[in-house]
Formats: sequence, C-alpha cells, structure tokens
Amino acid sequence: MTNLYSKIIGSGSYLPEKILTNHDLAKIVDTSHDWIFERTGIEQRHIASKNESSVDMAYKASLKAMSMAQLSSNDIDMIIVATSTPERKFPSTAVLLQNSLKVEQGFAFDINAACTGFIYALDVADKYVRAKVAKNILVVGSEKMSSLLDWKDRNTCVLFGDGAGAVILSESTAPGVLSTNIGSNGSYKDLLTVNIDPEFIEMKGNDVFKIAVKTMGKLAVSTLEKNNITIDQVDWLIPHQANSRIINAIAKKISLPSEKVILTVNKHGNTSAASIPLAFDDAYHNGSLKKGNLIMLEAFGAGFTWGSVLLKF
Ligand code: ACO
Repeated sequence: MTNLYSKIIGSGSYLPEKILTNHDLAKIVDTSHDWIFERTGIEQRHIASKNESSVDMAYKASLKAMSMAQLSSNDIDMIIVATSTPERKFPSTAVLLQNSLKVEQGFAFDINAACTGFIYALDVADKYVRAKVAKNILVVGSEKMSSLLDWKDRNTCVLFGDGAGAVILSESTAPGVLSTNIGSNGSYKDLLTVNIDPEFIEMKGNDVFKIAVKTMGKLAVSTLEKNNITIDQVDWLIPHQANSRIINAIAKKISLPSEKVILTVNKHGNTSAASIPLAFDDAYHNGSLKKGNLIMLEAFGAGFTWGSVLLKF
C-alpha cells in the first residue's frame, strides 16, 4: 500500500500597502529606530487600512495560493484560517473567506492558537488529508494585529504588523508533511494576553523572550530526533517571526548556520499566525526555497502554545 501524505502545492501572501517604519513610530511614541532594531531586528511593518479586515487580506493571499496550485474554487474542500483578529466574532473568518472565494462545498473553520496558529492549522489539515476526509485544503494565517495595539504603549506597539499568507495542502503519494508536533500550557496565560476592555495586547516581554527561546530550542531538537535526522539534512528553518534575537538563539541551539534560516521579521514585524506563511511565500518567490527541500517550521505564542512541522516541499 502506498503512503498518503499531505503536501504544499501552492503558496500566496498579501501585505497591506501602508508601511510604518521605526522612524515613523519614533514620531508617535518615545522610542527610536536603534532601540527597536537592536532588540528585535524589526525595521518596518505593514499596517492594514481602516476598512481592510483579516478576511480581505486572507482572500488576496488565497487567490495567489490557488493560482500557483492551479486550483479553482470548485477544488477546495476545506478551509482553515488561523487568526486572533477575526473580522467578526461569528461567522468565522474561514466561513467569510469561503464566501469571498465563492467556494460552495466543503467546510471552513478558524483556529486561534495566537502566533502558533498556522502550525496548529497545518497539523489539523495534515490529519484531515491523511484520513481521506479532504483532498485540497486551503490553510491561511491572516492577522490585523494593528487592531489590538495601544499606540501609546511603546512596549508592544513597535513589535507587530499586519498581513496574510496562505498555502494549499493537498493529497499526495510523494512525501510532503513528515511530522507535526504541537503543545500548549495555559498556566502562562497572563504573560501575553489581550484583555477584553480595552482590547489591547499586554505582555511581560522579558519572560516571554526567555520561555520562547527555551521552548523553541527544545522543540527543534525533538523534531530532529523524532524524525531521526541530523541538522545538516535540513535545508531551511522557517521560524515564527517575532524577534531576530529569539530566532538566532534557536539556530545556535541546533547548530544551524544563519544562511539556512528564513528571516522576514525585519520587513514584516510580528504578524502572529500570518508570519510563517508570509515568510514561506517570501522565500519561495525570492528563489530560496526549492522543490524537494527539507523545511522545518516552528512557532511559539500566547497561551503559551508552540509547534513544529517538518516537511518536504
Ligand atoms: N523604545 C524604547 N524603550 C523601550 C521600548 C521602546 N519601544 N519598549 C520598552 N522600552 C524600555 C523599557 O521601558 C525599559 O526601560 P526601563 O529600564 O527604564 O524600565 C527598557 O526599555 C528595557 O525594557 P525590557 O522590556 O527589559 O527590554 P528587553 O531587552 O527585554 O526588550 C522586548 C523588550 C523587545 C519586548 C523583548 O523582551 C522581546 O522581544 N520579548 C519577546 C516578546 C515577543 O516577541 N513577543 C511577541 C509575541 S510572542 C512571540 O511571538 C514569540
């Protein structure tokens, strides 16, 4: 019997037109380009317009992913959107996206695992493909993080950006997703959270930083061990793009040279669940990712939640 895999056959992304640089931010809050860049690696982020929602951004990214996969609306049998910034409380972002794309079959739902959302969505999608419930799944990360920011709080407003990334995960007999690994621990709920009123991000940055480095380092090592591979077999690490210092610490922990790490946090900021598919698409279009590459995706976010995916592209 041949093995059944899920495989990425299309990718697309969308970034809002407006770019907000660190220099622009220094005119709004008491900060500087150097402070932000030295601590996070961020130079700029994209900010959605007032009328642009996570559904609108997801729609634009999805059309590109479907075009690369050469699929039409009739071919999509499941949609998952990872987001913490839904356009409405309900219907879900995924169902609104299903409507925008004129997909009239299948089913759609959202996943909220904060910055780890896209990894959780891939984990679920992979299982649906291998259980033969769906053949072509649209998996999207879309975030309007700017809607959760207190623009008077320099501790948080300098870190985040908006955007969307999408992939098509399809049934394949050739190896694609090789392993997924997700986890969470709710006892950290107050270290990174969005309160209801006012609806702003609050974060104990220092604590988040330390636990993120420790957890993601351990996760990368266990992903290698679980798949019985060594680090030199990995072509690319695409980590969640929150902070270049966190990313460098993980690469160091697994002895991965920085040339094999995809870094987009400098131009996107932290786009939460959208960060990995945005980085994936950026690296694909600039020619870094090649068909057949072995790629490790890894994320960490509020909850805390964390997860990794090892895949053959
Ligand atoms: N500009 C200038 N000064 C600032 C700014 C700013 N934007 N923000 C904070 N400061 C000040 C603080 O007020 C503090 O001043 P004080 O010493 O007078 O009190 C000083 O800078 C140092 O603050 P720290 O919070 O200790 O700075 P740190 O070196 O830890 O960097 C940062 C802060 C960048 C937030 C870091 O902790 C971090 O990156 N944490 C990870 C958080 C993260 O990435 N969260 C994203 C979501 S989770 C995830 O995606 C992984």
